[in-house]
Amino acid sequence: MASPPRAMVTGAASGIGEAAARRLLEEGCSVIAVDINESGLDQIVAAGAEPFVADLADLDDRARVAAAGQGIDYLVNAAGIIRLKPLPDFTVEDWREIFTVNAEAIFFLCQGIGPTMPPGSAIVNLSSSSAKLSNTVEAAVYGASKTTILSITRSFAYGLAKIPVRVNAVCPAIIDTPMQDKVLEMVAPLRGMTVEELTEARNASVPLGRTAAPEELAGLIWFLLGEKPGYMTGQAVNYGGGYVTW
Ligand SMILES: NC(=O)c1ccc[n+]([C@@H]2O[C@H](COP(=O)([O-])OP(=O)(O)OC[C@H]3O[C@@H](n4cnc5c(N)ncnc54)[C@H](O)[C@@H]3O)[C@@H](O)[C@H]2O)c1
Repeated sequence: MASPPRAMVTGAASGIGEAAARRLLEEGCSVIAVDINESGLDQIVAAGAEPFVADLADLDDRARVAAAGQGIDYLVNAAGIIRLKPLPDFTVEDWREIFTVNAEAIFFLCQGIGPTMPPGSAIVNLSSSSAKLSNTVEAAVYGASKTTILSITRSFAYGLAKIPVRVNAVCPAIIDTPMQDKVLEMVAPLRGMTVEELTEARNASVPLGRTAAPEELAGLIWFLLGEKPGYMTGQAVNYGGGYVTW
C-alpha cells in the first residue's frame, strides 16, 4: 500500500493552522503539527497529528523544524503573530518581533524544506487581506509582514517551479479565530468603540456580510495543495467575502 502523503502545518495549535491540519488528517495525510504552544496542540494530536513544539523565532528550533520537514508533500505556513497599537507607537522591537515570525520564518522554511519536496508537492503561505489593503492601521507592521509574504511566495514559486513545487498564498479577510478576537478587543478601545460596535462595523464592511470559520478556509488550503490547481503557482488568493477583489 502506498504510504500517505506527508504534511507539515505550522501554527497548528489554534485557528486556521489547526483547521488546516485537521483537514489534512481527514484527507488521509500524516501531519506534523508545529507550534510554540505545547498544550494547545493537544486537540490536533488527539485527532492523529504528530506534535512538534518549536518557537519559529528561534534559529535552532527553526532548523529542527526544517529538518523534520525534509521531503514532505505539503507545507502550510500558518504560524503568525499580530501586535495592535496606534500607528505612532510602533517600535523597532515590534517590527523585528513580527517580521521574525511572520516573514523570516516563512522565508527560511520555504528555503530549507521547499527544494527537498517531491515533484507535484505544494506550499501554502498564510498572508492576509491586510497585505493588500493595510487599512487597519493599528496592525500596520503586521500588514507589512503579510505583504512581504506575497513576495516570498512569488520568489519560491519561481525558484521551485523546476521540480515542480507549487507555492501559493492565501489572503483571508476575517476568519473567526482567537487572533481575530484579539483584534476586536484591542482595536475597539483605540477607536473609542465597544467591541460590539466594531464587530458590527467590521461585518458590514464585508460584501457577503459575514465572517468565515477556519474550516471553510481549510477547504481552500486543501484545494490549493491538491492536484486540481496544477497550473497555479505564485498567486495571492483572496478569501474574504468580497472584502478585497484584486
Ligand atoms: N484570523 C484571521 O482573520 C486571519 C486573517 C488573515 C490572516 N490570518 C493569518 O492566518 C494565520 C493563522 O491565524 P489564526 O487567526 O489562526 O491565529 P491564531 O492566533 O489563532 O493561531 C496562530 C498560531 O501560531 C502560533 N505561533 C505564534 N508564534 C509562533 C512561533 N514563534 N512559533 C511557533 N508557533 C507560533 C500560535 O501559538 C498559534 O497557535 C496567521 O498567519 C494569521 O496572520 C488570519
